[in-house]
Parts: sequence; structure tokens; C-alpha cells
Amino acid sequence: MKIFLDSANVKEIEKWLCYGIVDGVTTNPSIMLKDGIYNIEEGVKKLAKLISPLPLSAEVTTNDLKEMMEQAKWLASLAHNVVIKIPVENEFGAPCLGVISQLEKAGIKVNATAILSFGQLMFAAKAGATYVSLFAGRINDEGGNAAEVIANSVVWLDDWDFKSELIVGSIRSAGDVISAALAGAHIITVPPQYLDKIADHKYSRVTVKEFIADAQSALKMMDKPKS
Ligand code: E4P
Repeated sequence: MKIFLDSANVKEIEKWLCYGIVDGVTTNPSIMLKDGIYNIEEGVKKLAKLISPLPLSAEVTTNDLKEMMEQAKWLASLAHNVVIKIPVENEFGAPCLGVISQLEKAGIKVNATAILSFGQLMFAAKAGATYVSLFAGRINDEGGNAAEVIANSVVWLDDWDFKSELIVGSIRSAGDVISAALAGAHIITVPPQYLDKIADHKYSRVTVKEFIADAQSALKMMDKPKS
């Protein structure tokens, strides 16, 4: 299973890269805004260079399908490791599957995003997306069962040998990460604050404290003259 960082925060990305557990980074316009990246061109170039050769997902920002193609080609030209996030449909309900299909045929990797159902995921995979991003938190917000959709999707993708890798996004807690992992997600994209929570356990700290105290006691015993 791969872990992506759902963030545009350079310090956090650097930190988690050093830990050796990050396989890529995803962003969207809201994440860019929250993390203070207002100039998309500069931001994408900077983040892509920072994590190269790992993939960086950057999203188009228009409802117009023709403009989506142009933005996608431009974003892809900024760095070799940029993957283009295309929503599975635009805000007016027009499917963006044709854009996904054309980009993939042109050799541009697509992360089909804002997927809220198994049906949408099937179509995005059929259109040839390299990644299909299922929004777990938003599925649960609507009374759905994200873990079930993840499990069904992974089985279906693997059974039919689709190239698409399932990314679980919209993570709202450390528990969501564990549920997604156990449901079989290929990739989970996680906001850094939940990785911090997973890495830590109070009892691990207590355990290490005991070991260090005992090691220090042993050192003192070494110095003591034998009677
Ligand atoms: C991931 O690719 C998405 O951009 C992100 O996880 C969406 O999360 P949200 O539902 O918190 O906006």
C-alpha cells in the first residue's frame, strides 16, 4: 500500500519524505489556498521538484471541458512528475470522462477526482485514469459506507485487471486511515496531522522512557566498585 500526503505544506512534505513513508503528494485548489500557495505555476514547480521522482497531483480549475484540456496540458508541462486531477464531472453534472480518456491517450497521467460512488469509479477506470480518487469522508458525510465502497472498488479493479490505482482521500481522522488500509485501498492520501497521530502512542513513549531509565541505572552500576 502507498501513502500520499494530501498537502501543499513544504515543511510537512520535507518531514514525511525524510521518514521514508511517503510515495507521492496530492493537492487541490482548497489545499493550495490553505497552505498559502496562490501562484499555481510556482507552487506546482516547487512541490514537483521537492518530491521528484514521486508523483504530484495538481488539479484543473475550470468547468469548461476544452479549457480543462488546455490547463491539463499546461500543468503537465511544468514538471515530469505532475499528474493531472480531473473531476469525474463538472459542477453542472457534465461528465469529464472524455477529458480523462484523451489525456491518458496523449500520455498525460490523470488522477480522476471527486469520486463519490462505485459507479463513478467504474467509469473513471474505464476511461483509463491512472488513479481514481474516492472521497471517503464525503461519502460518510452523506450517510454512505466508505469502507464498503473502498473494498468493493478494490476487488472490482483487481478482478478486471484495471491499471487504475485506487486513492482514498477526504480523510477526516486517523481512524479513517486505518479503515481505508484494512478495506484494501491501494493508496491513501493523508493530511499530515493524521500521520502524526498514527506515528505516536502514549504507551510507546512510556515504554521507551522505562528502557532509557534502566539503561542509565545499568551505567551507574558499572561505575560502582565491586564489593
Ligand atoms: C484528495 O485527493 C482530495 O483532494 C482531498 O482528500 C479532499 O478532501 P476533503 O473532502 O477534506 O476536501
